[in-house]
Amino acid sequence: MRPDSTPPTIYRKDYTVPSYLVETVELGFDLDPDRTIVANRITMQHNPASPSRSIVLHGEELDLVELRLNGRALAPTEYKIDGSVLTIPRAPAQVVLEIETLCTPIQNTSLSGLYVSNGSFYTQCEAEGFRRITYFPDRPDVMAKYTVMLRADKARYPVLLSNGNLIESGELDDGRHYAKWEDPFKKPSYLFALVAARLVCQEEHYTLKSGREVLLQVWVEEGNLDKTDYAMQSLKNSIRWDEERFGLELDLDRFMIVAVGDFNMGAMENKGLNIFNTKFVLANPRVATDIDYAGIEAVVGHEYFHNWTGNRVTCRDWFQLSLKEGLTVFRDQEFSADMIGTDSGRAVTRIDQVRTLRQAQFPEDAGPMAHPVRPDSFVEINNFYTVTVYEKGAEVVRMYQTLLGRDGFRKGMDLYFARHDGQAVECDDFRAAMADANGRDLRQFERWYSQAGTPVVSARTRYDAVKRNFDIILSQRCPATAGQPDKLPFHIPVAVGLLDANGKDLPLLLEGGDHPKDATTVVLELKEQEQIFRFRNVDERPIPSILRDFSAPVVLEHDYTDDELLHLYRHDSDAVNRWEAGQRLAMERLLKLTAQVTAHGDAAVLKLDSTFIEAQRALLVDESLDPAFRELALILPSETIIAEQMEVVDPQAIHTARQFMRRTIGAALKTELLAQYHANQTPGAYSPDALSAGKRALKNLCLSYLLVAPEAAELKVAQQQFDNASNMTDRAAALVALIHSGGDAAPYLQAFYQDFENEALVVDKWFAMQAAAPATNVAAVRKLMQHPAFTLKNPNRARSLIFNFTNGNPAQFHAADGSAYAFWAELVIQLDGINPQVAARLARSMDRWRRYAPALQEKMKQALEQVAAQNKLSNDVQEVVSKALA
Ligand code: ARG
Ligand code: ZN
Repeated sequence: MRPDSTPPTIYRKDYTVPSYLVETVELGFDLDPDRTIVANRITMQHNPASPSRSIVLHGEELDLVELRLNGRALAPTEYKIDGSVLTIPRAPAQVVLEIETLCTPIQNTSLSGLYVSNGSFYTQCEAEGFRRITYFPDRPDVMAKYTVMLRADKARYPVLLSNGNLIESGELDDGRHYAKWEDPFKKPSYLFALVAARLVCQEEHYTLKSGREVLLQVWVEEGNLDKTDYAMQSLKNSIRWDEERFGLELDLDRFMIVAVGDFNMGAMENKGLNIFNTKFVLANPRVATDIDYAGIEAVVGHEYFHNWTGNRVTCRDWFQLSLKEGLTVFRDQEFSADMIGTDSGRAVTRIDQVRTLRQAQFPEDAGPMAHPVRPDSFVEINNFYTVTVYEKGAEVVRMYQTLLGRDGFRKGMDLYFARHDGQAVECDDFRAAMADANGRDLRQFERWYSQAGTPVVSARTRYDAVKRNFDIILSQRCPATAGQPDKLPFHIPVAVGLLDANGKDLPLLLEGGDHPKDATTVVLELKEQEQIFRFRNVDERPIPSILRDFSAPVVLEHDYTDDELLHLYRHDSDAVNRWEAGQRLAMERLLKLTAQVTAHGDAAVLKLDSTFIEAQRALLVDESLDPAFRELALILPSETIIAEQMEVVDPQAIHTARQFMRRTIGAALKTELLAQYHANQTPGAYSPDALSAGKRALKNLCLSYLLVAPEAAELKVAQQQFDNASNMTDRAAALVALIHSGGDAAPYLQAFYQDFENEALVVDKWFAMQAAAPATNVAAVRKLMQHPAFTLKNPNRARSLIFNFTNGNPAQFHAADGSAYAFWAELVIQLDGINPQVAARLARSMDRWRRYAPALQEKMKQALEQVAAQNKLSNDVQEVVSKALA
């Protein structure tokens, strides 16, 4: 490690207001891949709230040609450039700055700022990319009105787009043309965008509830116009939903979505010009799976909803990122649930959210990168676009709704906009709006924003048959995290129901509660370290269903017996807890089996009890249940989630145990699996609706169980599905099942590649499937990297192969000889030279290194140290590896 080059840490407590406020920005672009000229005219005014008279601008990778202040060119002695900060001291109160810079989009492989993808120009400015385009006070609390003039070669870049409204366009000399755009709304620089590209669009005039007509466009490369329908439909659904659920209307006359193949994240909510990873736009049945369709709906919704939660009201500083992200994820989750429209569909989306939290957020909260939903410090803000800020942040927002009810939550939202429209605010402002609109004291709730770590809620019960009282005693604790050894109690909503011996919900009478008389679920508010909640008039000892609908992002401890869990698994009216009972039953067994494999070295001694198998059989064939729910109930906890429950992780033993369990279930339930496979076919034209998608999910889960140890008949079923599938969901599922069956899948892989080699997103799938296959070791990954279609420069492609191996194939990634760790180090370093954001994500694969057996730990540490010792590491990667080693 080289302490001398350690990048600085930025602290939330050091926030100061901007010294100058910007009124207008006029940008002129002469777009050229090798030499783009940016002319920037800013009118600014001293901020009376600031004691400083220095103008502070940010700029990176820019060539400064000229800097003029109020019409006069500044000599280099009149300003100072220190790293990425340009300071003009002793400036007058009213300032017009004119700045001319050069940049080189073609060399910008970081995909932050202005860059070239497949020969066209795109931008990504969040969080701090605008400073790679021009000098500017690049901080979200500086909001201004933008006018943008784009000039470029007309033949190569026929489409010129920016934020807001097109106010002028025309021809220039030498085959060039121009377009002038004006955004009527004040915005922070991170919401700026431009596109200069060879694209085509699907467009539609759409009438808002108010009667106003708007123009909606989805822009894609030629040849992809047959894949824009679902994104357009999702956009219209999003517009309608935000009007209905939150009374929020689209404020622009024109709303554009542009798909680009090279993109660091999912998508970006630039005002009126959302730029998307192609993965979240392009779909037709031939190339996209049900999961892809659901992803498009969610991300189109997410970016659209940002127009109010993020753009109209934005963040004061980047520590407040969850103000917009947690809230907007919550909104997109509710949107997706409402689009399904049924209670069971809603529950299925909720279960998916719980799985994501356990798979990714709980580990983050327990690892070296743990941070509060509102972090107190960071080195590189791009490292904090995390599952904690996004998904845990959404859980925090959801808890307001759980505590205040839907109407109370809506009141809070209304007050939030009434108070803060057009402002850059803090998470605390959102909490205050929720509290004030409902006359509630939510001061303790602040700890969800300030304390990292996953709280553990422990439940005990006691029943007094004479007094007919049933007590639930809840206590809470939260493990220490970096910099936070001790935690104060959280304000935790714990939704509870009580089941009788027949599995029926008991009507509840909570002592001191003010719930409706016939309630069968009540929300207990746990605020102390320990609290007793008493239910009256309980005639028999009930079985408690605790944390219904996963009412808080916590770990629930309760000593359920197997019989109680089986009872809940059979009867709980709360689908999330019903699913949860099955997961607990499975997890208990998986942990035992894993310990046995570790002790004996193989699976020979393993046994699975018939009780569990029979419970799964009953659930599988229960046609009163939603197929999507049955599918989720039959999926065993993932290897990563199992690993999180173990003190010392043995990845190979986990894999062996889980495979044993899958094989045993597959063999025991063969008849029923085959029957359900046939019963859940979806003949006719493909539709991504939830019921059809659920049937396919269940059917394909059955197939995967049948193919764990297949005989010829099962293999044939999979082969036929592969050959005859009329959609990508079924085609890909058959291929994955064949790959995992242990037989020779090469011919199928080859056929699949040949069919789809011109569909980049399907080629990504092809790499991803192989990366996560149990037989794929690091040598096989290296070989796949030699494939002509592989490149590290495209983030989707890099993730498809590399990330799906390091994160999706734990038994191989943790090979005893440490060869995959060396591979990881090599790739982090290589990627860092191309794209630090992507490299830093890969670096996170080592977060949990301290939990492995000493022999593995030692090798992981070596790999981390090897990366840390590199000379020219980005701040992004340096922060991740140094925190891992700290
Ligand atoms: N605000 C975007 C979204 O969540 C994500 C952009 C993140 N970009 C980045 N480079 N960190 O919709
Ligand atoms: Zn977002």
